[in-house]
This record gives sequence, C-alpha cells and structure tokens, in this order.
Amino acid sequence: MSRARIRPVTGAQYSRILGVGGYRPVRVIPNSEVLTWIDSSDEWIRTRSGIAERRWAGPEETVAEMSVQAAGKAIAQAGIDPDRIGAVIVATVSHLKQTPAIATEIAERLGCGTAPAFDISAACAGFGYGLGLADGMVRGGSADYVLVIGVERLSDLTDQSDRSTAFIFGDGAGAAIIGPSDTPGIGKVVWGSDGSHKDVISQTQAWDTAFAKEDAVNGAGEEVKWPALRMEGQTVFRWAVWEMAKVAQQALDAAGVTADQLGAFIPHQANMRITDAMIKALKLPESVPVARDITETGNTSAASIPLAMERMLESGEARSGDLALIIGFGAGLVYAAAVVTLP
Ligand SMILES: CC(C)(COP(=O)(O)OP(=O)(O)OC[C@H]1O[C@@H](n2cnc3c(N)ncnc32)[C@H](O)[C@@H]1OP(=O)(O)O)[C@@H](O)C(=O)NCCC(=O)NCCS
Repeated sequence: MSRARIRPVTGAQYSRILGVGGYRPVRVIPNSEVLTWIDSSDEWIRTRSGIAERRWAGPEETVAEMSVQAAGKAIAQAGIDPDRIGAVIVATVSHLKQTPAIATEIAERLGCGTAPAFDISAACAGFGYGLGLADGMVRGGSADYVLVIGVERLSDLTDQSDRSTAFIFGDGAGAAIIGPSDTPGIGKVVWGSDGSHKDVISQTQAWDTAFAKEDAVNGAGEEVKWPALRMEGQTVFRWAVWEMAKVAQQALDAAGVTADQLGAFIPHQANMRITDAMIKALKLPESVPVARDITETGNTSAASIPLAMERMLESGEARSGDLALIIGFGAGLVYAAAVVTLP
C-alpha cells in the first residue's frame, strides 16, 4: 500500500500591512490632573518622559469596544470584507478577564466569520509579535488576511499614588490588516525575550495573591491592594537605550535597508528620552521623521506603534509606501523590530 502524502500548504510569496487604524479614548488627562495624585511637576514629567497628556478610557470604552473601532478603520483602509480575515490576533496585557480570549468577541463583532481568534501577552512588543505571527501566517498559507490589534486599558493597572509610573500610562487601541503582497512589505521580524529580567516591569502581585489577602482581610485584616504595574525605571531605561538600538539595527540589516532610506522611525512610545537616545545610537539622519505620539498619548504598550503609525500617516509626516522601522520592547523582557512598508 502506498503511503498517502499530505498536500503541501502554500501561501503568498510576500506580505505587507494593508491598512492601519486607531482608537483614542475621549477623556484627556493632562499632567495637571496627574499632579493632583502625585508630588511632581509638569516640567519634570515633560522633561523626564516627554508626556504632556494621556487618554484614559471610560466605562464604555472597553478593550473590545476600542479594538472594534480601531479595527474597523484598518479594515476600511485595506478595502477588504471582514469575512476575508483568516485570523484575529489581539495583543494586550490589560484585558482583565482571562477566559475567554477577548479576540473571539472582537472577531464576532467585526463579522470575521469563524476565523481563529486568540490573545497574546507580549506587553509593549505585542504589536511586533502579532506582526511576526501574521507575516508567517500569510506567507505560510494559514490565512489570507490577518487582523492584528494592540489594545490596552493600562489605567486599570495604574497605581495613581506611585510617583514612578502614575504619569506614564495611557489607554487606546491600534490595529492593522496584514495580507498578501507582490513585493516584500515586512522585513525579517527580529524578536526575542530575556526572562532573567522578568521582574523589572511587572504586575505588583498575582490575582490569586491579591484574593488571598482579601480572605485575610475578612479574617485577620491585611490590606488589599489592587494589582498595578511597577517598574525599575532606570534599569528599563538603560536596557532600552543600549540593547534595543542593537535590535533595531539588526532589523535594518536583515531588511537590507540603511537608516537614511527610512521614511519613518516608529519606536514604541515608552519615553521620549529613550527615543532620542535610539536616534543617536542608530545615527538616524535628521530628515527621517520620528513618531512622537507619546506627548499626547502616553505609553499605551501594545497599542503605541499602530497608534503612532496612524497619526504619522494622517498628519502627512510619513507617506504610504515609505519604509518605516518599528520596534517594541517591554515587560518580559520582550522585544520585536522590523522594517515595514507603510500602508
Ligand atoms: C520613570 C523615569 C521617567 C524616572 O526617571 P529617573 O530619572 O530614572 O528617576 P529616578 O527614579 O532615578 O528619580 C530621580 C529623582 O526624581 C525624583 N522623582 C521620581 N519620580 C518623580 C516624579 N514623578 N516627579 C518628580 N520627581 C520624581 C526622585 O525622587 C529622584 O529624586 P532625588 O534625585 O532627589 O532622589 C525613567 O526611569 C524612565 O523613563 N524609565 C524608563 C521607563 C519606561 O520607559 N518604561 C516603559 C518601558 S515599556
């Protein structure tokens, strides 16, 4: 008996980003409001982080709602019917209901048929991780079009009394459609992790620990604190500046592109000083426009790159068809960088 052979799966030769969209919550929190929570100054926050204001989501602006809004724009720009989307990937660390994945609700609300839908947790590298997965899926033949969403409600995990983080985080959603292309539109995704630094950005305590304390309160009276994000600011800062510039350079080299050929540099909006240090390390020419969305948006983790990309395209700072270097990095520690053609 001859053995049956499995039919090979073939995908598109190349992939690219076909559309991008963002959602910014209505409520603006200026630095002046942050100063009612912590002992600081507008000048300190602006000079140390580059942030002037951030957006915080209201009760109706849920992770799903913000995602649907952002994805709707990305789908419209890509010009495809939602039922052609073959996978929905949602990168988030702030969807507080662990099961089911929020991706299935989002896929259903968008009309993505029976597309596989799942969440990934890769913090501020979440969009880059999603892009890497989507690129592989389109070229590997497991989906024609993939929707990647980065979405956060970091306000839910912000300790408003913590001077070192209260001013940093914001909420929002960014989305992109990745699909087939005649020419390469996504360079090699250079991604990785370093678990030896897992504690430098993390949630203060696991949910089970918090609930165990609640039990103690009912009985013995230990204070319960809602888990929040904490970070060792200077350690993160040094790592981001030194290590991430190397990763960004690797992404350029892998794509065969030099810094002067870029039409945009869109780093994760973590801190303006990190961005400026990376520009120096990469010897980026002054003519390359740089995303500085953090000033009005704060650090929105997985949402920050697609939000910044959308803003640069809408404002005319960057143009469709230009090459952009993107790099995300954060809790894990994790990182992902790539050169992409802008939609
Ligand atoms: C968070 C961050 C802005 C803090 O800046 P820093 O220079 O490292 O601040 P430090 O914690 O060393 O404190 C320096 C001084 O500022 C003070 N300070 C700290 N927070 C302050 C605040 N919110 N307002 C005013 N002063 C503050 C400290 O008390 C300290 O004062 P001292 O010198 O008199 O002791 C900076 O570490 C940073 O940007 N890190 C990277 C964070 C990041 O990007 N995270 C996202 C990664 S995804």
